[in-house]
Amino acid sequence: MKKIGILTSGGDAPGMNAAIRAVARRAYAEGLEVYGINYGFAGLVAGDIFPLDEEVLNDKIARGGTFLYSARYPEFAKVEGQLKGIEQLKKFGIDALVVIGGDGSYHGALRLTEHGYNTVGLPGTIDNDIPYTDFTIGFDTALNTAVDAIDKIRDTATSHRRVFVVEVMGRNAGDLALWAGVATGAEAIIVPERDYDMDKIAKRLERFREEGHDNAIIVLAEGVATAADFKAELDKHGDFDSRANTIGHMQRGGVPTARDRVLASKMGNYAIELLLQGKGGLAIGIEDNKITHHPMEDLFDEKHHADLDLYDMNNKFNQ
Ligand code: F6P
Repeated sequence: MKKIGILTSGGDAPGMNAAIRAVARRAYAEGLEVYGINYGFAGLVAGDIFPLDEEVLNDKIARGGTFLYSARYPEFAKVEGQLKGIEQLKKFGIDALVVIGGDGSYHGALRLTEHGYNTVGLPGTIDNDIPYTDFTIGFDTALNTAVDAIDKIRDTATSHRRVFVVEVMGRNAGDLALWAGVATGAEAIIVPERDYDMDKIAKRLERFREEGHDNAIIVLAEGVATAADFKAELDKHGDFDSRANTIGHMQRGGVPTARDRVLASKMGNYAIELLLQGKGGLAIGIEDNKITHHPMEDLFDEKHHADLDLYDMNNKFNQ
């Protein structure tokens, strides 16, 4: 192995730049040449590939987003797209790849490995929805952004004695809602992994109000409903001065936390170790604070498990 390529794919996540930097720095240390591929698999197919000079990496560890740009490119599921990508790899003499992205990106990564180009995947998504990893790169930063926003909403909720429904991202996973809800002392957390009973929620809020606790935050995972729809349903169950808020893409941006940077650095470093051992088709994770890897196929058969102990604990806090 002499030349490796790096790409970021799917929704961007804070810490992706730190991951690219780590992969490249470790690769340089091993005497490898490094190529950046812009716009994920779309850029691979289009040949948007360039030598990644060391100087380019200098100021990247602290930057949000991905300087390699990102794209969702379902066309790579077709053999035709894969063959075009392989043509480009041949043209640039790239023999192995690191793909940073969500689990959708792992399908493309596995196809490349099957075509003889060892590819290792790093979990880069704010959703924390990838199996075989306790945390994904970007989750911690997005969580802290959500917590900061909800803390601010709490100030106005308190001042006006209001109920706020705050929708956080996470696609079909409740992780961001669970962690942000616990961290902000939410009166209710609503996640796709658990059913909810609106009548019970309304009764809980009414009881709190009678007890003099007259503002509330409901942290809602986007995989359940929109904040507006949830608020409308809540209003049918009680007389609340309620408001709906969606934090939105703000959660995807910003300076990555130290935790995300360190996680990205460890995973990027490990990706090169696996490739140097001639391994591919592997997804890197962190489990019980150890960096691990699993065959990508195993991830497709496995579901991510959100930490529902947080849900149960928060309900007890609000009984
Ligand atoms: O996967 C990251 C994520 O931000 C999800 O939380 C959200 O559902 C989705 O991407 C939004 O996608 P887009 O930026 O394409 O609208």
